[in-house]
Amino acid sequence: MRLRKKAWAEPLIKKHTGDIIVSNEASSIKKLEDDFLRNNENILEIGTGKGDFITGLALKNPNINYLGIELSETILAVVLKKTIELDLKNIRLINMNAKDLGEMLNPNLFDKIHLNFSDPWPKNRHESRRLTSKNFLESYKKLLKTGGKLILKTDNAGLFDFSLTSLKENNWTLETVNYDYPLTNNNQDVETEYENRFRNLGQKIHYLIASYKEVKEDE
Ligand SMILES: C[S@@+](CC[C@H](N)C(=O)[O-])C[C@H]1O[C@@H](n2cnc3c(N)ncnc32)[C@H](O)[C@@H]1O
Repeated sequence: MRLRKKAWAEPLIKKHTGDIIVSNEASSIKKLEDDFLRNNENILEIGTGKGDFITGLALKNPNINYLGIELSETILAVVLKKTIELDLKNIRLINMNAKDLGEMLNPNLFDKIHLNFSDPWPKNRHESRRLTSKNFLESYKKLLKTGGKLILKTDNAGLFDFSLTSLKENNWTLETVNYDYPLTNNNQDVETEYENRFRNLGQKIHYLIASYKEVKEDE
């Protein structure tokens, strides 16, 4: 997703760094972990785009806390704007590349990780950038609580097949695999911006839920 730089974006992000926006400073991360992620249920979305999904879920589930990660500052500022307008207290946002998240945060924080319409990176040489490639899956194993789930929605058959293979190769359990996932707007799901676009084009949406269980030596 590309968005032209918006003059208001940087000042708005600066203004909310420390409350809604989490910076990469140790004190900011500690506050996120010790205060915000102490909640019973925490959900992470990687690649929020303009935030219809995360803000929609946060609105429906005020008792669940949501952390959104987005690479683009301008796009994240759009999510921030929606969070402020909707007066959502249960969202925190970080402007970063998710590849560094596993090292930045402590383990066992999230009940679910959502990947919605992630960039497919179709060229072989870009495989490691796909959000379901080995290194990303390793960091999700760490970040998820025991029994936590990775949930992926995409229109892209190539990325979906790659994700199924990568998950199996890395010993995840596939709990749900659906090649024609219907439009679902319940407490657990919200149509994303990209999903809306692809559904309107008549494209099938693929969906999976996977979990990882550590296999102990003596099991
Ligand atoms: C194709 S868009 C989908 C946006 C939204 N999830 C949706 O379904 O409408 C992918 C988004 O993921 C972000 N993104 C891509 N790679 C990322 C990464 N490694 N870390 C964080 N965000 C990333 C992009 O900036 C973009 O906003």
